[in-house]
Amino acid sequence: MVATAAFVIIFLAIGVAVVLIAMSGGPAGVRENLLHRQSRGASRTSSASIAAVIAVFGLALPAVVMVANAEDGAKDAPGGATLTAGEENGRKVFAELCSTCHALAASNAVGRVGPDLDQLRPPKELTLNAIEQGRAQGRGQMPAGLVDGEDAEDVAEYIAKVAGRN
Ligand code: HEC
Repeated sequence: MVATAAFVIIFLAIGVAVVLIAMSGGPAGVRENLLHRQSRGASRTSSASIAAVIAVFGLALPAVVMVANAEDGAKDAPGGATLTAGEENGRKVFAELCSTCHALAASNAVGRVGPDLDQLRPPKELTLNAIEQGRAQGRGQMPAGLVDGEDAEDVAEYIAKVAGRN
């Protein structure tokens, strides 16, 4: 986002400079204009350059910003949390293996078999323990070992990051 902002600012500065120079009839015209009124030709040139500037700022720049935002959006979970690559993988694992039984707003999950994770807000260790051992404490059944290794770590980190944020 910082890079995009810098790009926009540089772009703006160049654009303003170009307009100012064009309006005064080019670099040579700057001095000229101090003595004479603008000629017909110069004012035609400046309306053409104003049209060009409108095209750049009205169309090209919004397009660039929209593309940049679309790329950023992939990393954002609802609620404004920015996910790491691992948490991003955790979100996929959650959608495949957990969302049928658990509610989690950040994943649009509304499962009602197990506890609502937005309310529970389980820390990473609790989620890892639930995955490893399974759960059967009277509120239903969660099978052990649905996922292991890196995927288990990722999904536990993802839940710890997003639960209760929406
Ligand atoms: C078949 C349904 C089902 C699936 C699939 C499922 N769970 Fe569960 N989960 C449950 C139930 C039911 C409980 C509560 C069990 C109990 O009362 O002992 C639970 C409990 C939990 C708890 C709370 C543990 C505690 O001690 O409070 C966490 C955290 C959890 N699940 C995470 C996950 C994750 C992460 C996944 C995906 C890898 C997942 N669950 C998949 C049914 C499921």
